[in-house]
Amino acid sequence: ANRKIGVIVGSLRKGSYNRQIATKLMSLFPSEYQVEMIEIGNLPLYNEDLDTPGNVPQAWTDFREKVAEKEGFLFVTPEYNRSMPAAMKNALDVASRPFGENAWGGKPAAVVSGSIGATGGFGAHHHLRQTLVVLGVTAAPQPEVYLGNVTSFINEDGTITKEDTVAFFQGIIDGFVLFTEQFYK
Ligand code: FNR
Repeated sequence: ANRKIGVIVGSLRKGSYNRQIATKLMSLFPSEYQVEMIEIGNLPLYNEDLDTPGNVPQAWTDFREKVAEKEGFLFVTPEYNRSMPAAMKNALDVASRPFGENAWGGKPAAVVSGSIGATGGFGAHHHLRQTLVVLGVTAAPQPEVYLGNVTSFINEDGTITKEDTVAFFQGIIDGFVLFTEQFYK
């Protein structure tokens, strides 16, 4: 089917491996899917005082609208100190409010974590899943993706350096698409 998918990357740095991984994954969706990366780097830190009439930052409003129009999400995140980066948590918080207007809820998602270390961002991955539960986002049990030692298969410029990587990535997207199709059946 024709589905609108939002891609959220937890790293803000230009040379981010996770951003390169997300970009590659985006290219592997079926052509009828509309897949868009939604930037989170310009969102002011969530503050309830700002979430009042006349005070809401334009960047929040724009982000909330982008999230609301999507039918599913692909989260690709590094791990910072055994959790998700603050930028990712902030983005989840911003579009979860104002109370009663959670823009994430009722949609499917895939979670991918990537690290230069061996543990593949396991801590970040599961803290993210924990928050998705309360947001009403149904994270696919599978694919369950922890990408360790990312420098062994991708460069900062996005070049894939290991032969079976694209096929592996295609399996991730095929699994998520199948999950999404079943979700909306
Ligand atoms: C890290 N890094 C890291 N890696 C990891 O596997 N577990 C961790 O807990 C942490 N903690 C951590 C904290 C902070 C503040 C930084 C900046 C980094 C290393 C991390 O995997 C590495 O910087 C990746 O390159 C980040 O992903 P991107 O930016 O390349 O997508």
